[in-house]
Amino acid sequence: MKGVLLAGGTGSRLAPLTAVTNKHLLPVGHEPMVFHPLRKLQRAGVTEVLLVTGREHMGDMIELLGSGRDLGLSLTYRVQDEPAGIAQALSLAEVFAAGSLLAVVLGDNVFEDELAGPCARFREQGRGARILLKAVPDPERFGVAEVREGRVTRILEKPERPPSDLAVTGAYFYDARVFDLVRGLRPSARGELEITDVNNAYLAAGELEHEVLAGWWTDAGTFPSLLRANALALGYPPPDGLG
Ligand code: DAU
Repeated sequence: MKGVLLAGGTGSRLAPLTAVTNKHLLPVGHEPMVFHPLRKLQRAGVTEVLLVTGREHMGDMIELLGSGRDLGLSLTYRVQDEPAGIAQALSLAEVFAAGSLLAVVLGDNVFEDELAGPCARFREQGRGARILLKAVPDPERFGVAEVREGRVTRILEKPERPPSDLAVTGAYFYDARVFDLVRGLRPSARGELEITDVNNAYLAAGELEHEVLAGWWTDAGTFPSLLRANALALGYPPPDGLG
């Protein structure tokens, strides 16, 4: 299995912290944000990783991470010229993937759980897609999965009225057909190729499996969630009321 770390986008919700610094280089605990998902991949045995980021920050990213040797990784880099969405960023991994199964992680996601278990279960699954869900108090900020009788029945991106409290976290497992599926997508209302549409395509094909995380999980892309990620990464209880 190969890994893809997506660290593009604008980081506009953290302006002005992101005016000259890439969001994924901001501190979470004792390390830059991007170290957290990279370490999860490494500890899951996924050491060949493609990192995607925007053109304005690629230099900083390479200066920080280099070959990946210090983190026990072998890193390859690709530039996403425009922040055209998570699925568009993923499409840049097609040549790198070379037919392998993929573990895809968003650079602003911080997990307590290790990814080794889900990786092993996806290897056993062998094809299709696998997503990781987590019950959250503010599901309207995320992709939200409706689960009936143990199966995901639909996924909605940032719904006003969420059908459940199960957020779709930013760790996804795909087979190599994901690239054909992305080619079939149209941009959403916000002008992006959406990862939720990729997951719904696998769902429609009957090939979407899921699991629910036991440990805490947060993104770190807004001021409250960045504060929360820092508290959790440092082992403090998260401040009350911060999603
Ligand atoms: O955190 C999980 C959520 O991430 C999911 O529940 C949602 O379904 C998914 O759409 C996404 O939601 P956000 O709107 O929070 O995604 P955001 O635009 O903040 O992008 C998350 C990461 O994806 C970002 O840290 C880097 C990467 N990204 C994003 C875009 C738009 C790219 O690499 N390129 C991009 O063009």
